[in-house]
Amino acid sequence: METLIGTDISTAKKLLESGETVAIPTETVYGLAANALNPDAVLKIFKAKERPHFNPLIIHLPDWEAVKKYAAEIPEEANLLAAHFTPGPLTFLLKKRPTVPDLVTAGSPKVAIRIPAHPVTRELLSQLDFPLSAPSANPFGYVSPTTAQHVFEGLQGKIPYILDGGECTVGLESTIVDFEEGEVIVRRKGGVAVEAIEEVLGKKVDVRTGVEDHPVAPGQLKSHYATSTPLYVGDAAILAKRFSTKKIGVIEFGENLRAVTAAFRFQLSPSGSLDEAAKNLFKIMRQADQSGAEVILAEWLPEEGLGRAINDRLRRAQHEAK
Ligand code: TXA
Ligand code: MG
Repeated sequence: METLIGTDISTAKKLLESGETVAIPTETVYGLAANALNPDAVLKIFKAKERPHFNPLIIHLPDWEAVKKYAAEIPEEANLLAAHFTPGPLTFLLKKRPTVPDLVTAGSPKVAIRIPAHPVTRELLSQLDFPLSAPSANPFGYVSPTTAQHVFEGLQGKIPYILDGGECTVGLESTIVDFEEGEVIVRRKGGVAVEAIEEVLGKKVDVRTGVEDHPVAPGQLKSHYATSTPLYVGDAAILAKRFSTKKIGVIEFGENLRAVTAAFRFQLSPSGSLDEAAKNLFKIMRQADQSGAEVILAEWLPEEGLGRAINDRLRRAQHEAK
């Protein structure tokens, strides 16, 4: 199959209506989309990504109004969070209506719903009469794509069309929130900081992540978001000594690794901005992976704001993480 990259919304629309997959831009990462109500189309996503079927998918809708069609119940706190963060990088786990195929939720009674903020994909969604299920548009386990070119590198020959919407502005996947008996639980750290959610709700929330590990059988998957080159996170000076015979690539954040000697250097944010680091993280992981470095070193970022989600991705990308 030939994979085209273009900016034509009507091409994407036609392919999706005929049950094909299309890679779409969102503000977080590129998604590999298909008609969420058509199980045969959804199966093509799993196939192109080589993703296990027991890993459920997020469905993407044009606006919060449309959520009622697919969620059986919408807790008050979900409405409150939606008023602040939707459209945007926040995904809601809500009790599903029977219209959502079990394949999409991997048999769970809840469906993950997101209203993406990217103008191209919002326009596309507004022209469709079905939601789009879309995981990140990368081969399962590899670094998520933040440009059309990244998608092409990973899925070339496996999908017909990549809708190019430029570089993703947030750069990390959405934060996933769950609602249980009046409690709000963060299930994945992402593009909306936990602190921002707490501020809107006026209370602390539970962070119980692991939603990305859970659906996968133990041992099946060593790491997620992983580079092919081994990546180590910790005290970079100590790690650099340990790998002194190898060509080292370092992922820097501001001046944090200034004292470490390396063959290749990649900068997340010269000024030390966590938002900028989030936007650049996956691109830089790919650059480091393709640089010729034999080992990639990084240090943990501050555990605040988007730093928490960045650290989560680094932890999962680590060599021998599990
Ligand atoms: O920013 C994002 O969320 C991107 C863009 C494309 O929207 N999508 C994304 O999808 O990151 P994916 O499939 O790579 O990650 C979705 C995560 C998975 O780890 C999955 O386990 C979890 O959401 N998830 C989806 N549906 C779920 C459900 N019904 N119950 C529990 N977890 C769910
Ligand atoms: Mg993913």
